Amino acid sequence: MLNFKDKVVYQIYPKSFYDTNGDGWGDLKGITAKLDYLKDLGIDYIWITPFFTSPQRDNGYDIADYRAVDQRFGTMADFEELTKEAKARDIGVMLDMVFNHTSTEHQWFKRAVAGEKEFQDYYKFVDGEPDSPPTNWVSKFGGNAWEYVPTIKKWYLHLFDVTQADLNWENPRVRQELKDIILFWKSKGVSGFRFDVINLISKPDSLQNDDIGDGRRFYTDGPKVHQYLKELVADTGIEEMITVGEMSSTSIDNCIKYSNPDEKELAMTFSFHHLKVDYKDGDKWSLMPYDKIAFKQLFKEWQEKMTDGNGWNALFLTNHDQPRIVSRFGDEKQYWRESAKLFAGVIHLMRGTPYVYQGEEIGMLNTHFTDINQYKDVESLNYYNILMEQGKNANQALDIINQRSRDNCRTPMQWDTSENDGFTTGKPWIEIPEYGKSITVSSQINDENSILAFYKKLIALRKQYRIISEGNISFDIAVPEQIISFQRKLEDECLYVIGNLGETETQIIVSESLTKGQLLIHNYSDDVNIMEKTLNLRPYELLAILL
Ligand code: GLC
Ligand code: CA
Repeated sequence: MLNFKDKVVYQIYPKSFYDTNGDGWGDLKGITAKLDYLKDLGIDYIWITPFFTSPQRDNGYDIADYRAVDQRFGTMADFEELTKEAKARDIGVMLDMVFNHTSTEHQWFKRAVAGEKEFQDYYKFVDGEPDSPPTNWVSKFGGNAWEYVPTIKKWYLHLFDVTQADLNWENPRVRQELKDIILFWKSKGVSGFRFDVINLISKPDSLQNDDIGDGRRFYTDGPKVHQYLKELVADTGIEEMITVGEMSSTSIDNCIKYSNPDEKELAMTFSFHHLKVDYKDGDKWSLMPYDKIAFKQLFKEWQEKMTDGNGWNALFLTNHDQPRIVSRFGDEKQYWRESAKLFAGVIHLMRGTPYVYQGEEIGMLNTHFTDINQYKDVESLNYYNILMEQGKNANQALDIINQRSRDNCRTPMQWDTSENDGFTTGKPWIEIPEYGKSITVSSQINDENSILAFYKKLIALRKQYRIISEGNISFDIAVPEQIISFQRKLEDECLYVIGNLGETETQIIVSESLTKGQLLIHNYSDDVNIMEKTLNLRPYELLAILL
């Protein structure tokens, strides 16, 4: 069986990674150009978010042709070159399969609205009258999740943007089409796949209003999702590849099923509960300081129970949909370096496969934009309007968007201090934040105390110590609120990972004498303050000791 436990994946948002032709838009050639940088970082796979032909309403998550490279990203020859060059460096390429929905620009959808019954059955179309949508379900990007097409007198479901129509997985022809897409890319030599919101694909047979929620309880981890995944995997022969499913509002029991090797579904899952700990009343658009106890508790539950069920977690704190972690849970100013390293350590030393999202490895920050017009993301713009309709004033609405927008992590990669931070010689598709030139790859690449150097070290440690890639895990709960503490165990070894999530110095008592242990990694540049059985942790201090 493929072993991905000691592997690390690097996520690339190609539009913002590196632009080689000066049109302000990152491209596939730009990824090829930076492969040596990635090799040096030590990662094993790159996951590239969608670069297929798309109207780009949702930055490529609205696909119009699954088999073609959008010309803004380059050509198929560029893709083949990229895979070849990656392979030469022993880096695998993972592609992002958006199979819950297509763009309404896709041929299938166009033929459906043109009246072809066969293609209407590719989507979730329901007959109806223009003033009464089939259910009250809410789109994840705001508003009702149904849209009416007057010419055919039918509603279609869109759990995301109105231009992202949900596919009808109940139709075996749809399932076959999607398998063929996987086979197409497999034959191009890719190493694995990430499946976008894959736990939303199975909708219930009967549609009903949700009187207590937004509808998600009816279609999340839906009735036939495991059956469909098993079929997809078996019929495309991808069980030996690295695969990861993005699971929206899922449960541990389902994730065990998705990722337990005996089930032959996926290699691992992304779940998001630990990134909702700063949502007031569960609402992304309602601010609150993050709840450290809930954050630790969620990791404890997910880490321990996934281990018990032989499931496997994808580990991450940021991606192209999340704000930057330093701005969110860390400290952008006084403890920028320490807090970036702390969160890196927490993720990379847990049990699962770590994902690094571009720019995270140098500690990039949120945008801090001052005008809503600087934002591009469809979700941010929709919610800005919704917040204003709900009575927020422009400043309040902007403040919420500044903290929650997906654009926080979509600004260009900051390579160096040349024009546009070395991302493009043209005009970048989205503005580079003002802080841009102060945090770059070039300023960290030769600095052994840099955040970048810390990531390299963490990645290397995973390959060197089996206890990191394979060890069991248990969490200490009887520690002060701001302390995160867990142990990895393998045979008679134990790795203690202890971190201070807070801004004040804290003393803790440890059960064993850590003085005899070997310090594997530490995020401050001077000595650790270990005494017999007590430990003084400075703000955001993190250490890992092997006993
Ligand atoms: C996933 C993607 C996100 C996209 C959505 C709809 O959550 O990560 O970027 O907008 O699915 O495809
Ligand atoms: Ca370009």
